[in-house]
Amino acid sequence: MSPGENLDLIPDCFILQPPVFHPVIPYVTTIFGGLHAGKMVMLQGVVPLRAHRFQVDFQCGCSLHPQPDIAIHFNPRFHTTKPHVICNTLHSGRWQREARWPGVALQRGASFLILFLFGNEEVKPFLLQSPRLQVPCSRALPRGLWPGQVIIVRGLVLQEPKEFTLSLRDEATRTPVMLRASFTDRTLAWVSPWGCKKLISAPFLFHPQRFFEVLLLCQEGGLKLALNGQPLGSTSLDQQTLERLREVRISGSIQLYCVHC
Ligand code: GAL
Repeated sequence: MSPGENLDLIPDCFILQPPVFHPVIPYVTTIFGGLHAGKMVMLQGVVPLRAHRFQVDFQCGCSLHPQPDIAIHFNPRFHTTKPHVICNTLHSGRWQREARWPGVALQRGASFLILFLFGNEEVKPFLLQSPRLQVPCSRALPRGLWPGQVIIVRGLVLQEPKEFTLSLRDEATRTPVMLRASFTDRTLAWVSPWGCKKLISAPFLFHPQRFFEVLLLCQEGGLKLALNGQPLGSTSLDQQTLERLREVRISGSIQLYCVHC
C-alpha cells in the first residue's frame, strides 16, 4: 500500500489472500470478501498416479453438518476410460444438473496449474500448462483490429515489478495506444503516442506474484478494457487507426502464459 492511500476506499473484494503451500487435503479456507467479479483463485498441484478423482468446491460456508450449498463443484475424474471434468451445484443437499467436459488436459501423474476467474455470473477455469512465453513478446495483427476482435493476455506479475505495458503498433511502428501499469505509482493508464496519460480510475489490480487477465475488445470507435473479468471502460480510436494496427507488443515485469489475438 502506498503512503496516503486510504484503506477504506479499497473494497473487500480486492483483499489479497496470502498463498497456502502444501495444504493437507481436504483443505478448507474462507475466501475473504466472497467471490466477487474479478476474483481469481489459482491452484497448483500434482494428480497422484492412482487418483480416481479430486474436487474443488466453492461453497457457502464451511460447516460439516448441515452440508453447505456448493456454488461451483469442479470435479476431474480419472477412473473412467475417458477422463473428464464434472461441474455442478449443490443446492439444499441436492445436486443440480451436471455439466461434463470431456477431453480434459489433466492427467494422472502430471502437474497442473488451474486458474479460476470469477465474473459477474460465471466462472472460467483455465488450465495453464503452456510453457512460459518470452517477454518482451510480439504478435502480428495482419489485418489490424476490427469490431468484435479480442486480445487476451494472461500472466503472472513478477516479484518487485516495475511496469507492464501492452502496446499496439501500426505499419510505421508508431504506437497509437499503449496500456501501461506502473508499479511505482500503482496506476493503470492509456498512454498516447505523445506520452499523454489517461489514468484508468479503478483499484490497482496488478500485484506481485499474482495472476492477471487483460482483455481488450475492439468495438466501433475504440477499445474496451476488462481486467480480471472487470470492465474498466474504454479508450477512443478511430476505425482507420484500428485497421492500420499490425502488432501487439507486451513487455515488463511479468511471466506470460497466454497471448491471444
Ligand atoms: C455425484 C458424486 C458427487 C458429485 C456429483 C456431481 O455422483 O457422488 O460427489 O461429484 O456427482 O454431480
